[in-house]
Amino acid sequence: MASIPKPISTSPIGGLPGKFLGWIDDRFPLTTLYKEHLGEYYAPKNFNLWYYFGSLALLILVMQIVTGIFLTMNYKPDAKFAFASVEYIMRDVSAGWLIRYMHSTGASMFFVVVYLHMMRGLMYGSYKKPRELLWVFGCMIYLALMAEAFFGYLLPWGQMSYWGAQVIINLFGAIPFIGEDLAVWIRGDYNIGDATLNRFFAFHVIAIPLVLLGLVAAHLTALHEVGSNNPDGIEIKKNIDPKSGHPRDGIPFHPYYTVKDLVGVVVFLGAFTAIIFFAPEMGGYFLEAANFIPADPLKTPAHIAPVWYFTPFYAMLRAVPSMFSSQFPGVAVMGGATLILFALPWLDRGKVRSVRYRGPIYKAFLTAFVVSFLILGYLGVVPTTVWGQLSFLGGVDSATLVARILTVVYFSFFILMPWYTKIDKEKAEPSQVTY
Ligand code: HEM
Repeated sequence: MASIPKPISTSPIGGLPGKFLGWIDDRFPLTTLYKEHLGEYYAPKNFNLWYYFGSLALLILVMQIVTGIFLTMNYKPDAKFAFASVEYIMRDVSAGWLIRYMHSTGASMFFVVVYLHMMRGLMYGSYKKPRELLWVFGCMIYLALMAEAFFGYLLPWGQMSYWGAQVIINLFGAIPFIGEDLAVWIRGDYNIGDATLNRFFAFHVIAIPLVLLGLVAAHLTALHEVGSNNPDGIEIKKNIDPKSGHPRDGIPFHPYYTVKDLVGVVVFLGAFTAIIFFAPEMGGYFLEAANFIPADPLKTPAHIAPVWYFTPFYAMLRAVPSMFSSQFPGVAVMGGATLILFALPWLDRGKVRSVRYRGPIYKAFLTAFVVSFLILGYLGVVPTTVWGQLSFLGGVDSATLVARILTVVYFSFFILMPWYTKIDKEKAEPSQVTY
């Protein structure tokens, strides 16, 4: 009888640990995975500060899942007990306050980090060929993240949870023909109630996190398939050292970038803990004051505003006038503002990727886009009564006018992109990365 050949171990480690690793490698590609994604994954050597935010987003994702699991151990998804169970977590559960503040601060920090991460993509043209799918997965993550935050905000069952959800679900009601039925279908009732809370809980703790994890896996797989872009926006794979077979401008991810990312983690955790210990509510921006009052369907709060990360889109919604007493135009603009991000790789006709080598028109449009997003964010936070008082242009409602202009600026960045990226005067890219 022919003997079965012994498996050949590829383990680089000797002795008993090496034998154990060899045993695993013969059954699962551990060393191969390590080499492909860490030890022999060559990343451009000119990464700067902007490249911290991907790994930080990963860190926060893990942190949200872990703190979420601990919160779920004491939270009650029941309209009668939800608010009290959160208070119980804050006051009686050991370290419950810490877990809750880590989770609520984590939500806001997730958006801070993801917005900066997206900004880097815009600045360095990271969405351009061959990274279109990487970008599309990123946009899907962004939508899933917004859904996750929205579902989560109802769970404490405070006044802002209730009325914020009321406003957003009613927006679906503005969709012609199907709107009313759609809103009832989302709520599971004619009003926001226990049925709504139960389904939002299901979406928040399991459905959307699963989607998010799957999308992040796809995002990273796409990233490792094409390789990272860099601040110069040039392709390091085009310049291979024939002796080593590796990119001349590349360095192994481990140990170089694992150590660099660790620095980012330490700085981030410094800021994160400072917020948790000294300003967990961030003056009402991370946790709104009205949410410390139990939900009351009979008492509408004077000022309903979403959490800061939604406010640029909320300002657009408020700025667009209704048509035939329907809010649908505003809803469509708000939805369009998020969906248009998907089209970016196909709108940009520039030959260079990085803002460093782009022409003045692109730079002006990018600056106008960022400034409009920030001001819209501010206008979305303040009550419309303040909009009425912002009469700096002499008119009664200058803020509405400003918000309308900024909404046009926001969309112009995308819609006019095929034109201005084509006619812009770009600079020549260097042949190798610069520092
Ligand atoms: C849970 C959220 C996210 C996680 C965990 C995540 C993770 C990462 C990681 C680890 C990297 C590589 C390191 C880096 O380049 O910083 C990366 C790169 C990238 N991400 Fe994300 N990401 C997330 C959301 C997004 C979003 C919302 C977008 C855009 C809409 C996006 C677009 C990109 C792009 C274009 C790259 C390549 C950048 C380059 O090579 O220059 N990501 N992401």
